[in-house]
Formats: sequence, structure tokens, C-alpha cells
Amino acid sequence: MRGDRWAEVDAYLTSNLLVPDPVLEECLRSSAEAGLPGIQVSPTQGKLLYLIAKAQGARRILEVGTLGGYSAIWLGRALPPDGRLVTLELEPRHAGVARANLARAGLERVVEVRVGPALQSLEQLASEKPEPFDLFFIDADKPNTRRYFEGILGLSRPGSLIVVDNVVRKGELANAATVDPNVRGMREFVEALKSASGVSATGIQTVGTKGYDGFVLARVEGERPGDRTLPTRRS
Ligand code: SAH
Ligand code: DHB
Ligand code: MG
Repeated sequence: MRGDRWAEVDAYLTSNLLVPDPVLEECLRSSAEAGLPGIQVSPTQGKLLYLIAKAQGARRILEVGTLGGYSAIWLGRALPPDGRLVTLELEPRHAGVARANLARAGLERVVEVRVGPALQSLEQLASEKPEPFDLFFIDADKPNTRRYFEGILGLSRPGSLIVVDNVVRKGELANAATVDPNVRGMREFVEALKSASGVSATGIQTVGTKGYDGFVLARVEGERPGDRTLPTRRS
């Protein structure tokens, strides 16, 4: 199966099922113009995030990895007017582009972009003892994925959903001998999930404009905070 066919099908689905959206188009345009890498979720994936957030009735969402705010706009639009999206981004320049894009989407009062290494931002967030988040989207530096997952469990509640992007990496996920740190990060994450208690998870492979990849969807099932832990690995 050819990658151009995957892109053709994405274009077909997008033109039939998604409404043309000047704000999202301007988000992509300004992100590219600012030199940001074009690695945001595709339109059909963005709409999936929106639909998951709606189906979850999410009022509070936490995203790890903002880039230019493309996925944040999709997620933010699924929130009720008094909802909240916190999104964590390492690069001040990315955060600046994202803030401008979120403002154009009318989401500046709903979305908070926090700048810094996400592991630190997660610790800071936890110290604020926030209301639990209903939905998480992990999409930052791949080698830290397991640590992000561990960090967000403390910010979750039974019933919280977690989406993790870019897990399959052209199928390299199945290559135990891989030396790619991104793939190794995802294998480490999946293998930690295997022995996580109080978390139910699956993985779905995807093709489209972004090639062959996939995501993990997980749900926090534990009733007590102590029920939901990943086996800790000192590193
Ligand atoms: N979710 C975005 C894409 C995110 S790309 C979308 O789909 O629209 C990954 C982002 O994670 C990049 O902007 C990168 O700067 C950021 N990132 C990388 N390392 C990070 C870290 N340690 N902490 C927080 N963000 C990080
Ligand atoms: C990369 C990161 C992403 O979040 C993504 O969706 C695709 C690619 C990357 O770092 O290569
Ligand atoms: Mg991604």
C-alpha cells in the first residue's frame, strides 16, 4: 500500500467530513512561516481528539507538547465555556506561536500554555493540587513518554482518558533491536503499561498524511490513587 494513497484517502475524508476552517489553516500557515516543524496531528486526527474530548465530556484537559497550538485548538474547542486546557511546551518560540494561534481561535481564556521542560511543569502542576484532568494528550519528546505518563497519573481520576501519539513509528515499535531513542522510548512506555495496575489500554495503528504510525488510548480504572501506578524504574 502506497503512502500517496493514504494521503489521498485523508484528503477525501477531510474534504467530506471536516468543515473548512480558516483559523486552523492560519495556525498551520503561521507555524510553518515561523519555521516550526510540521509534525502537528493531521486534520482527521485533530478531529478525532475533538470527538474523544466531547465523548468524554471533558472539562479539564492536559496536553504535553504544544508546538504551534494546532491540536490545542481542536481540544480547546471541545471544552465548555468554563473548561480548561493546560498545555506544556519546552520552547518559548513555539509557545509564542501557539498563544497567537489560540487567541485567533478565541481560546485565550480557556487555554494556558506553560513553558519549560514538561517533567518540571508536571511537578509544578502537581504541587498546585489541581482538580483532576478528564483527558490527557501526550505528544512531546518521545523518550520521556513513560515519565510523562507516570506524571499525569497523579493528576488523573478514575475514568480519565489518556491519548499518546506517535507510538508505532513506521512499525519500528515491533523492532526489539531498534537503536532509535524515540522508538525505544515508546517500547519502554508500552512495556511499562503492560504491568501498570488500574490502567486499561490499547494501541491502534494508523496511516494517512503523516505516514504509518499509531496511538495508545488508555483509561484510568483504579478507584484509589494508589491503584494507579506504573512500575517505577530508577533512571
Ligand atoms: N501536539 C502538537 C504537536 C507537538 S510536537 C500538535 O499536534 O499540534 C512536540 C512538541 O513537544 C514540540 O513543540 C517540542 O518543542 C515539544 N517538546 C519537546 N521536548 C519537550 C519537553 N521536554 N517538554 C515540553 N515540551 C517538549
Ligand atoms: C514527530 C513528533 C510528533 O509529535 C509527530 O506527530 C510526528 C513526528 C517527530 O519528532 O519526529
Ligand atoms: Mg505527535
